[in-house]
Amino acid sequence: MGRGELERDELGRGELGRGELERGELERGELGRGAVERGGLERGAVGREELERGELEAAAEDYCALVETFGPLADYLTINVSSPNTLGLRRLQARDHLEGLLSEVTRARDLVTGPPRPLLVKLSPDLDPAELEDALAAVVRAGVEGVVATNTTTARPGVDSSLGAQPGGLSGAPLFPLALEQVRRAARWGGGRIAVIGCGGVSSRDQVQAMLDAGADLVQLFTALVYQGPRVVQSLLARSD
Ligand SMILES: Cc1cc2nc3c(=O)[nH]c(=O)nc-3n(C[C@H](O)[C@H](O)[C@H](O)COP(=O)(O)O)c2cc1C
Repeated sequence: MGRGELERDELGRGELGRGELERGELERGELGRGAVERGGLERGAVGREELERGELEAAAEDYCALVETFGPLADYLTINVSSPNTLGLRRLQARDHLEGLLSEVTRARDLVTGPPRPLLVKLSPDLDPAELEDALAAVVRAGVEGVVATNTTTARPGVDSSLGAQPGGLSGAPLFPLALEQVRRAARWGGGRIAVIGCGGVSSRDQVQAMLDAGADLVQLFTALVYQGPRVVQSLLARSD
């Protein structure tokens, strides 16, 4: 993080801790042709978090540039179309947008040399069942290997703190029931055609087991690492007998 970002108040807009590929990365990092050609850098657009008109349609170009750049370095790639912190991004989960996007991104992924890089699509816990099925249909149709369920939620389930009024995505304990339900639905709908990675509020062995019982093939942690530190992984994996 550079001095410039702090001066532009990036931290206040949720820049801390992002770990995956998403629309808007290019404007921040000079990584892609698309952003530069559209003049993003010259316009001082570093750190923009909102998709403007036409950008949704052009998103594939940036995702493909990121796949090209990071594909050779990664064991797998996750396409983030579900962060609530980039306004408009979640519209990419709609079947029409997602099918177009994934057909281009899978093509870019197939061009990465070396071992196969599984592609995952990260979905929102806030999709209703019909929206989830639409997104899953696009995923299966594109031949994508799996989904991560889920990203953060804009809901505030069981949160009775004044902090709940803050905008943005909520992670951690309150998210767990929503994420678990999306995992269950995705696994049932997928019927083994796609891998389902369970993610959202997992911080105990019982929760890991619940994710697996709901049909998750793998389980991811994020917030638990913040509160319990990296050793949480070992303790969640430890056998009880
Ligand atoms: C501070 C913060 C930043 C995050 N940044 C991203 C991101 O850039 N891309 C993404 O796909 N998910 C992002 N997430 C979502 C997490 O990867 C994860 O899906 C979510 O927090 C639910 O898991 P958890 O409850 O274990 O944290 C972020 C979450 C937090 C709390």
